[in-house]
Amino acid sequence: MAVFPIRLVIWSTSLVLWFPQSAATESHGLDLCQEFSDTYEMVNIQNSAEEISHKELSEIKETFICLLDSTNKLNCSWSFNTLEKDTRLSVFISVCNEETVIKSLSRTFAERVGSMSLTVSGEISGVVLHFNMSLHNWISYTYVYDMDTLEHLPPPANISASFNNDNLIIKWDLPRTRNAVNPNCFENEVEIRDQEKTTSWLPKHHTNHTVASVDPSHSYSVRMRTRISSHCSGSDHWSEWSPTVTPSMERSDSVLKPLVIVFICLGVPMGLLALLLFVRYQRVTKVLFPPIPRPPAKYKYFLEKSDAFNFFYSTPSAKPEEVITEVEDTGKNPGK
Ligand SMILES: *[C@@H]1O[C@H](CO)[C@@H](O)[C@H](O)[C@H]1NC(C)=O
Ligand SMILES: *[C@@H]1O[C@H](CO)[C@@H](O)[C@H](O)[C@H]1NC(C)=O
Ligand SMILES: *[C@@H]1O[C@H](CO)[C@@H](O)[C@H](O)[C@H]1NC(C)=O
Ligand SMILES: *[C@@H]1O[C@H](CO)[C@@H](O)[C@H](O)[C@H]1NC(C)=O
Repeated sequence: MAVFPIRLVIWSTSLVLWFPQSAATESHGLDLCQEFSDTYEMVNIQNSAEEISHKELSEIKETFICLLDSTNKLNCSWSFNTLEKDTRLSVFISVCNEETVIKSLSRTFAERVGSMSLTVSGEISGVVLHFNMSLHNWISYTYVYDMDTLEHLPPPANISASFNNDNLIIKWDLPRTRNAVNPNCFENEVEIRDQEKTTSWLPKHHTNHTVASVDPSHSYSVRMRTRISSHCSGSDHWSEWSPTVTPSMERSDSVLKPLVIVFICLGVPMGLLALLLFVRYQRVTKVLFPPIPRPPAKYKYFLEKSDAFNFFYSTPSAKPEEVITEVEDTGKNPGK
């Protein structure tokens, strides 16, 4: 008895959560997962005259794609620029687990170029993308993605680049994929940019590439992307570009580098300090060895004189010369 209300709560919660999507699925009356579960790699085309045909993706002029990234975000985008004016474009996405619709999303008046995205949770086997273009008559495209074609690969991981003599060596790890992929199936692209030009390479080896005759004094930047080659089953849509990597010097130089950095870190402030001291030298010496006051010349005599009086009682040179007159008394002393 206690189970009933809990079930009711769960049921009504899921009803609220799923309502917009369920309503959308029902509104066009299609169970896309069931109906198209066996048509892979071809666009199923239907029209108001009930004709059904199949074409390769490359054969139709409109473009569309669904990609599922590593965070389980599904993004379907399209470009229907060739549609006649006033044509109504509707887009329907059904996320399937085998023949069951897990989640769906629709837009009845979609823009010519647009995208819709949703986050997928739980086990999924594929996605059905459906377009309906109607003016007086209608025509619809239906395309089924299995998990392999849906996956949007991450770029190669752990990319490193280094100079070795005149070679630029680039190494990387292949990206992690949902299902194991033969390393030979990855088609990698290495893009190397220097001051003058950008060069692209499709490396022969899976996890390294060497570019000969580079000039290590140039500044290079390296980035990569990957996809599954058309010889293998999987997404042939390029991954995003990896973050840019700047090549480093090989070991012999990498020991020198920290020394240079230390020298610069210590040397520059030391040099500045020395310069500062040199500029302020005059003032510093004035503070340390203040100049002895030198009296003006007119006081010099006075000062020297008083000094002489204080320390030596008399200085002959300083005294005005006494004139001594000796008077000789001759023959005027009868008492003798
Ligand atoms: C989906 O993909 C389109 C086209 O690549 C992009 O413009 C759009 O921003 C993407 N949307 C999300 C939510 O990632
Ligand atoms: C396409 O849209 C038209 C008009 O909106 C509708 O009558 C028709 O059933 C739709 N076709 C498909 C295959 O959904
Ligand atoms: C990148 O390198 C780290 C550390 O070496 C390693 O744990 C990780 O698995 C590598 N990533 C890939 C995709 O191989
Ligand atoms: C590049 O990869 C190949 C094969 O995987 C290997 O033989 C070669 O030694 C690698 N070169 C470098 C520079 O790591």
